[in-house]
Amino acid sequence: MELSSYMKEKKRIIDRYLEEELPLENQNPSIVHRSIRYSVLNGGKRIRPILTMMVAELLGQDYKKVLPAAAGIELIHTFSLVHDDLPCMDDDDYRRGKLTNHKVFGEAMAILTGDALLVMGLDFICRNAQIEGVKKDSVVEVVQNILEMLGTQKMLGGQVDDISWHNQKNNADFIEDIYSRKTSALICASLKTGALLLKASKKQIEALETYGEKIGLAFQIIDDIIDLQEDKKIDDKPTYPVIFGVKKSEEVAHQYCNQAKESISLFGGKAQLFYELADFVVSRKK
Ligand code: IPE
Ligand code: IPE
Ligand code: MG
Ligand code: MG
Repeated sequence: MELSSYMKEKKRIIDRYLEEELPLENQNPSIVHRSIRYSVLNGGKRIRPILTMMVAELLGQDYKKVLPAAAGIELIHTFSLVHDDLPCMDDDDYRRGKLTNHKVFGEAMAILTGDALLVMGLDFICRNAQIEGVKKDSVVEVVQNILEMLGTQKMLGGQVDDISWHNQKNNADFIEDIYSRKTSALICASLKTGALLLKASKKQIEALETYGEKIGLAFQIIDDIIDLQEDKKIDDKPTYPVIFGVKKSEEVAHQYCNQAKESISLFGGKAQLFYELADFVVSRKK
């Protein structure tokens, strides 16, 4: 199957699961449930949960075996976006083409919504232990890995340095290190979640992690090019294209895309969708 139809199909599955499993709007306290549904069910690309499901299928298994955990990762991703948009962080008014959470529900509710999404995301991941054919100890490994990828050495630390850019040196290594932590870490966790739940080999896990690291870097460079071209308010934040220009940034993103593809060569032709997804990351327009 071609990547675009594959992604459409998997997005539909993940959207339906989230729609059914998230607390309903009229459940008390209703305001926070309205806010959660507003930010989750609003047309994200669902790349991270799709990656988790892709790994299951790469390993010859049913994507349903990793669906609760995949959905949990999307909730955690949404938590990171709701907080990232806050006035004290990136101060953005729009997300996924709609007003940001705090613009609709207020700052206090946006903070609580992010907190709730993080907790709920971890709960969804734990639910994966109920799925037949999944070993409970693998779920503990997944939770440990996710917590590591979200911590101060990874996503959270990346966000810390990202907002403290005034004090930083603007060299490629430093910026890439931020991108690796704020963006690649959760992408790697999405891949590793599928791999751990379905007992991939050490070599396979390492290959998928390198793939995640590289597509994450390419993903964030392209994201910054899109933001720059859309003239999104980024102050003078030294993102990759701001410092190196769009052309050079595109070249670097393509290099990472190629390295990502090379890193999973051990899967051969079975990884076709992963090669296409790496190309999608560098060619996407939104
Ligand atoms: C946006 O991620 C935040 C970054 C890490 C660049 P996505 O581009 O995956 O956002 P959605 O989920 O599709 O809206
Ligand atoms: C978002 O990075 C990274 C996380 C939320 C962890 P950005 O701030 O660069 O992404 P956008 O442009 O708001 O989506
Ligand atoms: Mg940010
Ligand atoms: Mg932002």
